[in-house]
Amino acid sequence: MARLRTAFFCTDCGNETPRWQGQCPACGAWNTLAEEPLVRTRPERTRAARASDVVALTPVRLADVAPGDTARWATGIDEFDWVLGGGVVPGAVVLVGGEPGIGKSTLLLQVAARLQRSRSPALYVSGEESAAQVKLRADRLVEPADDVVFLGETELEIVLSRAAEIQPSALFIDSIQTVYAADLEGTAGNVTQVRECAARLQRFAKETDTAVFLVGHVTKGGAVAGPKTLEHIVDTVLYFEGDPSLDHRVLRATKNRFGAADEIGVFRMTGTGLLAVQNPSELFLGERRPGGSGVAVVATMEGTRPLLVEVQALCVRASYGSAQRVATGFDRQRLALLLAVLERRAGLRFAEADVFLNVAGGARITEPAADLAVAVALASAQLDRAGSPETIYLGELGLSGDIRAVGQLERRLAEAARMGFTRALVPDRASVRSPAGLEAVPVADLAGALTAALP
Ligand code: TYD
Ligand code: MG
Repeated sequence: MARLRTAFFCTDCGNETPRWQGQCPACGAWNTLAEEPLVRTRPERTRAARASDVVALTPVRLADVAPGDTARWATGIDEFDWVLGGGVVPGAVVLVGGEPGIGKSTLLLQVAARLQRSRSPALYVSGEESAAQVKLRADRLVEPADDVVFLGETELEIVLSRAAEIQPSALFIDSIQTVYAADLEGTAGNVTQVRECAARLQRFAKETDTAVFLVGHVTKGGAVAGPKTLEHIVDTVLYFEGDPSLDHRVLRATKNRFGAADEIGVFRMTGTGLLAVQNPSELFLGERRPGGSGVAVVATMEGTRPLLVEVQALCVRASYGSAQRVATGFDRQRLALLLAVLERRAGLRFAEADVFLNVAGGARITEPAADLAVAVALASAQLDRAGSPETIYLGELGLSGDIRAVGQLERRLAEAARMGFTRALVPDRASVRSPAGLEAVPVADLAGALTAALP
């Protein structure tokens, strides 16, 4: 018998290599290569078949394409519609990735229920839970999901033929790692299966104008192929994130062919399912205790939407060995850089201090626009001097201690004013009209900013 031909696939990014290695040469992840059978190549398409394709697909002028093709269905779950760019697009494939237990099934069942109520059938396929389990969850939800049709099947061809009969407007696959194509080698969840199943679902979506939602588990162990292997196949990639010990969740679009990427939606997990949070800034600022030292608020941009978050810092004398730098929700390298700038340009000493930096509410800051707020929080902690709780800080720090411009300043200031802030330290050269009730104080460098922030 001929030996099965195999190759090694990265369960993180899907890259294929002929030999095993400890590290994936494409994405750099360690211990993610798994041996899998190579897919049988498709029989060579004949010249005639190709010719007939050419006849079938007539090129058309863009001006002649009917505009109705881009209609969207709003689910009425505001934050979800927002992240998608205004609702569900028929024929689009949306991947919803996230760690187990974060709430992907709950969210999609709610979406199914909403779509069902306003449209023709939603078909919910689960290879993870039985009909009874899904019903149990459905009964807890605010949305009545009684009319959502459930199918407990994992063989893709059967799923597709049932879907072709039922003709749902939305098809939910929970999860892509549990479905398999019987004509392919290998078990469900391996890279080849996951990719090929997604590609077939993509074709199904486009041919039937069905919106397809795929759940993709993110697993640390790399036991199954993760959502990254699918990102280029699907139209939209959403990641559902959050600290499982906190009740709020953030849905983030990292790719969207039908809207802006990087948009976020914020939800709260309640006893009756996920609830859209109308005012995310309020959530992240919620538990503030004014008057303390070591805190500073910044308005970060999440996609096109400003979000206020609080930066907290704590400095304590290092007890032994080299001083620690611990950052949660913030890049450690950036923290080290800001500490160096504070030492050199503002004369603060952190060498003998353990420094802890935390972004409140489990939020994450990736923008340099938050540099100034982080620096103020650190200085405030080190000097044990409190800044005004009604001030926000915006600006990127240069190595020379200069404060650089940030994008979308007016939007950020408007959000701050809306949340009751009365003063903002902003980069010097920015010509900005500040909103009513908020005074914008231009600062040129770090020393000047600290004087204004911590009088
Ligand atoms: P689930 O949607 O099953 O997560 P995933 O599909 O991403 O693995 O949700 C898991 C958690 O959500 C579970 O621990 C219970 C909790 N939950 C609620 O708190 N309220 C609810 O109404 C529901 C349905 C679930
Ligand atoms: Mg689930």
